[in-house]
Amino acid sequence: MTDQYVVFGNPIAHSKSPLIHGLFAQQTGQALSYQTALAPLDRFTAFARHFFETGRGANVTVPFKEEAYRLADQLTERGRRAGAVNTLALQADGSLLGDNTDGAGLVRDLKVNHGATLKDKRILLLGAGGAVRGALEPLLSEEPHVLVVANRTVEKAEQLAQEFAELGPILPAGYDWLDEPVDIIINATSASLSGELPPVSPSLILSGETFCYDMMYAKEPTAFCGWAREHEAGQAVDGLGMLVEQAAEAFFLWRGVRPDSAPVLAELRRLMAQA
Ligand code: ATR
Repeated sequence: MTDQYVVFGNPIAHSKSPLIHGLFAQQTGQALSYQTALAPLDRFTAFARHFFETGRGANVTVPFKEEAYRLADQLTERGRRAGAVNTLALQADGSLLGDNTDGAGLVRDLKVNHGATLKDKRILLLGAGGAVRGALEPLLSEEPHVLVVANRTVEKAEQLAQEFAELGPILPAGYDWLDEPVDIIINATSASLSGELPPVSPSLILSGETFCYDMMYAKEPTAFCGWAREHEAGQAVDGLGMLVEQAAEAFFLWRGVRPDSAPVLAELRRLMAQA
């Protein structure tokens, strides 16, 4: 039987993962099937276990990443730090390995696709939810000058800063405390989903030099990318590349082959523009 992979989520119908992994498989000549799997909200664990009676690997998206973390028999270091898992891989001994490839996907998109340098830079992360937690270990391992985590609820930023302090220079903040220009601003709040923006000051932007990154993506520029362009940030990019790169990391974990993400990202952009 062809090796079976799925993405668990609820809702899941609009996931781009089957398209991305289908293109990776084609490109690398790997024989596999990858489908969406609508997991019941109250029965994720049983549903996932049933899949793994025959399946080889899974991606996990909202709202099951924490449950997948608890389901995994072993965790990668970045998965353990993230407290959430977006990739499950069946091991030779029948156990399940949990990984979180979101942060590595972000770092790869920033560095490889956009040519950004993170080492010795002042990085500002907006938000302190699951998306930020997953990004902290990979970002800190790039050795930034400082990583400021700003959040509406400051306590959550403080909690993360405490938890990750041993990995590098991480500082918590509220939005009203921020006024020093930074090199890179990453929006990881879910505010964009409703077209809103975290209340950040434009004085954070070093005109023409600041790199603004939104983890969200859409056909049209996101609210955060619009804000960054209005205030003349050097670059304002969305998170479609992060989506493709986290998938490439998962594909590599499962198959031991690293796909070339550039043509897949280009194809996704083309399809999104048409939709
Ligand atoms: P995710 O897994 O996508 O990170 P989450 O864990 O629910 O989702 O976290 C959502 C993040 O977006 C939080 O940092 C939240 O701020 P609070 O912790 O203060 O709630 C942030 N957020 C959501 N809507 C926002 C808005 N309108 N303005 C500012 N921050 C917002």
